[in-house]
Amino acid sequence: MSEMEGPTRRSFLKVMGAATAAIAVPQGLWGCVSEVDFEGRNFDWENQAEAIESQGLYTADDPGPWAGKEAVHVPVVRFNEGEGSLTVQVMHVMSEEHFIPLIYVRNQNGHIFGFKALTGTDPEATATFNVPVGTTSVTAFAYCNLHNDWKNGRLEIG
Ligand SMILES: [Fe+2]
Repeated sequence: MSEMEGPTRRSFLKVMGAATAAIAVPQGLWGCVSEVDFEGRNFDWENQAEAIESQGLYTADDPGPWAGKEAVHVPVVRFNEGEGSLTVQVMHVMSEEHFIPLIYVRNQNGHIFGFKALTGTDPEATATFNVPVGTTSVTAFAYCNLHNDWKNGRLEIG
């Protein structure tokens, strides 16, 4: 988080509520694309994610049928101090047959604030997203075209 978002401002935003805070975020701070509604939600992203998650959603502790593949599918989040952003990385091969087509992040309310599509020709499975003001926790997701969707543990911010 930037210095502008210190304890005083953050406390104020908590009082005002996450929805109010999201309104203050300029649309340009969001990763890309389309229809962001007045509360800062993108239902197109959320509908796509829900369809993917309904096919299987796994974690390091619950890899389902893919035990042994956790290390190359569970996304890793790094916060970029002073930039108000985070980077999600998945240590997965990127080829046309087997790759990570999608990385996205949800906030404490489950709302998606970053959504990046990838192709098998991208050199690596990574995405950087700005963190909207009012975000208090993040869960990152990575979808593999052969091994379903994976998420990390929820990370608290600040
Ligand atoms: Fe995979």
